[in-house]
Amino acid sequence: MSKLHVFDHPLITHKLSIMRQVETGSKDFRELLNEIAMLMGYEVTRDLPTEEYTIETPLETMQGKRIAGEKLAIVPILRAGLGMVDGLLKLVPVAKVGHIGLYRDPETHLPVEYYCKMPENIESRIVIVVDPMLATGGSAIDAIKLLKDRGVVNIKFMCLVAAPEGVAALQEAHPDVDIYVAALDRQLNDHKYILPGLGDAGDRIFGTK
Ligand code: PRP
Ligand code: URA
Repeated sequence: MSKLHVFDHPLITHKLSIMRQVETGSKDFRELLNEIAMLMGYEVTRDLPTEEYTIETPLETMQGKRIAGEKLAIVPILRAGLGMVDGLLKLVPVAKVGHIGLYRDPETHLPVEYYCKMPENIESRIVIVVDPMLATGGSAIDAIKLLKDRGVVNIKFMCLVAAPEGVAALQEAHPDVDIYVAALDRQLNDHKYILPGLGDAGDRIFGTK
């Protein structure tokens, strides 16, 4: 079974509470989302493999450390996942970025794929899939399957707000993928929106309805 990491850091809960407020506009919502993504990224990247290499300080030679291997790829689920990319890139500016386009059909609530573009050698990278909302889990499950079909073996999923139903579905479908959430909310409503949640993340980021 995959691990569920719930962040209860005061900076994160403070910023997330402002995002949840109905009167918070798109500009603040976007800024706060990226700030939280950066704070979460510090923990999500904790177990990145490192390797030693020789460096010269002004005084002597020593063994420094650098991130090993093909490094990271960040894969946002469009649209709303885009809102978390810049925050993570601030931490890891050399990361590559792939994109998966999925939207939830308003009637069935099932994800529909419309776009997929991955960086080279995606299969040998550690991939962090990002999306602010994990509701039924359908979008995350399909996005991760798409990556596994392309040979990716090391995947983490990072979101802002999750419903217990989505966490359970994702853990069942992909027990090897650790899940990082800023908050675990109460439940889904009849329209499969998260309660108390923050509404439609994509609409709040981009100012659409
Ligand atoms: C939202 C959200 C997730 C998905 C979560 O996207 O950003 O991708 O719903 O729901 P699920 O866990 O039930 O699949 P949406 O379909 O609204 O598309 P958008 O990002 O383009 O607004
Ligand atoms: N997608 C959202 O943007 N918000 C929810 O609460 C559920 C799915």
